[in-house]
Amino acid sequence: KEYQMQSNPVPIAIIGGTGLSALPHPPFTPLALIPPTPTPWGLPSSPIAILSYTPPSTAANSAKPTVVAFLARHGLHHQYAPHEIPNRANVAALKKLGVKSVVGFSAVGSLREEVKPRDFCVAGGVVDWTKGVSLRYGKQQSLRVSAVRPWTFFEGGMVGHVSIADPFDGQLSDAIYKAINRPGVLEGENLTVHNGNTVICIEGPQFSTRNESLMYRSFATEPPISCINMSAVPECKLFREAEIAYASILMSTDYDSWHSTNEGVSVEMVMGHMVANGENAKRAVAAVLEELSKDEEGEVVQAQRWYKQSRGGVMGL
Ligand code: ADE
Repeated sequence: KEYQMQSNPVPIAIIGGTGLSALPHPPFTPLALIPPTPTPWGLPSSPIAILSYTPPSTAANSAKPTVVAFLARHGLHHQYAPHEIPNRANVAALKKLGVKSVVGFSAVGSLREEVKPRDFCVAGGVVDWTKGVSLRYGKQQSLRVSAVRPWTFFEGGMVGHVSIADPFDGQLSDAIYKAINRPGVLEGENLTVHNGNTVICIEGPQFSTRNESLMYRSFATEPPISCINMSAVPECKLFREAEIAYASILMSTDYDSWHSTNEGVSVEMVMGHMVANGENAKRAVAAVLEELSKDEEGEVVQAQRWYKQSRGGVMGL
């Protein structure tokens, strides 16, 4: 209750994962940078950049600018390993900005032949294979995240149960798929944009053993698990508890350790594909913002209005 929203809401946020640590100018224009500000759950992973994006004008559209918040999940220097990310603080900081919809980007391994490295997937389901062991860490520890992943805001006398049957927002995910599957948006030979994939989330930071990778492939989920990452959980659960619509764009970097051509996953293998994915991720953000700016409900605020109102509350650039 004490944690009030500020007066100039930013309705859309992007969480950049490995490979997407900032939105470059151009085409994204920085409006403000909010330094990491303490929340009741500690500091968020990074400053939050507020940017505007104006799609190129066409005869059919009047090129409205949209405002977007950007947070780097692993920190500006990639200093937070997956199990160290202050997820609750990230969600709280975005909630305070008035964010209604979040698009999270995440590097993933592929558990299916047809999801090739550099392919993109719009996530449709999650299997939680993380092992967070304790929710409780005291005040002193709150700034130094230990090797557990708090996965709920409900604790210490506040009891709540939310449905996580469908962890991703259907409407937001549909808009994303429509936007990034348009010809010419993502660049790369034979690149495929998949839709509705199930992602299994492991604790990390180690990749999976070959046995684990084979086991995940054998799980009888519908649709089958085709991607693996280390960040879908608890992000999707916390955004649901915070009543923020969440969708996830998965960027394939490797075939995990099940694949016969693989010696196992190496950081070098992941890095090469990640650089290419990072470039496509920026194109994807632009396409998604353009698609969401068509939202006639007015969820997307005009950049000009936001900028005028926001002087003072945050550190203007
Ligand atoms: N992120 C990128 N590749 C991954 C993999 N193989 N397993 C888990 N997370 C990943």
